[in-house]
Amino acid sequence: MTNQPKTEWIDFGFETVPVKEKQSRVADVFSSVASSYDIMNDLMSGGVHRLWKDALMDWLAPCKGQILIDLAGGTGDIALRFLKRGGSHVHVVDINPDMISAGKKRSDIKAYSNQLDWTVASAEDIPLQTGTAERVTISFGLRNVTNRDVALREAFRVLKPGGRFCCLEFSTVQNATFSKLYDLWSFNAMPQLGRMVARDEAAYRYLAESIRTFPAQHDLARMMSEAGFAQVRFRNLSNGIAAIHSGWKLD
Ligand SMILES: C[S@@+](CC[C@H](N)C(=O)[O-])C[C@H]1O[C@@H](n2cnc3c(N)ncnc32)[C@H](O)[C@@H]1O
Repeated sequence: MTNQPKTEWIDFGFETVPVKEKQSRVADVFSSVASSYDIMNDLMSGGVHRLWKDALMDWLAPCKGQILIDLAGGTGDIALRFLKRGGSHVHVVDINPDMISAGKKRSDIKAYSNQLDWTVASAEDIPLQTGTAERVTISFGLRNVTNRDVALREAFRVLKPGGRFCCLEFSTVQNATFSKLYDLWSFNAMPQLGRMVARDEAAYRYLAESIRTFPAQHDLARMMSEAGFAQVRFRNLSNGIAAIHSGWKLD
């Protein structure tokens, strides 16, 4: 008998794929939708994702002098909000060069270019020093990361002592009737919108499926505590369609 290395498997939406394949599958999804990503967000959520991102900023409360590391920062939505509200500098880290390039082309972001830098890297291996920033965020990104525990530990590492981490992510709807309506919307309308606007139905089916396989509110809170964060709390948004989790790196 030969000693074959054992393949480890992980979720990719409702599919199960070898761990080493997930990152490239996720990269294909976001390369395909990068140019229509911002408009699709507005169409799919009726603009509500903007309110959720504003709620994240309310909790984060940016101040002058603060540095933010925005993991899976995509086209810069969180970075822009942080700088508009008075934050001083943002390191956007995203694994996908197409998303970053779509972000750099945004006219609303160009005015802040001297307060921003963009790095193509994984949230699992952030090329920044330990204790770099007062704030670390990840918005609709953790769901796509292969080793979420590793990414949470990295977020903890790059925070300064006394710093805060916030995660905005799709979560588990709390009301059973609303949950059924939401299922109808996300498994039918969302992939069809993806087909018509982004010309990629599969990418938006992956989105709906990956939301259902992501840890629920209390499970994510436990994962954050295990990564080292203290005073972990969460708030549901729109009945739990999304949630913001917050945790601190104590001195
Ligand atoms: C749904 S988009 C979110 C973009 C942005 N944060 C927002 O809220 O609009 C998810 C982003 O996660 C990025 N991503 C996926 N896996 C990643 C990883 N391991 N490390 C860093 N970024 C990753 C994708 O390239 C994509 O830009």
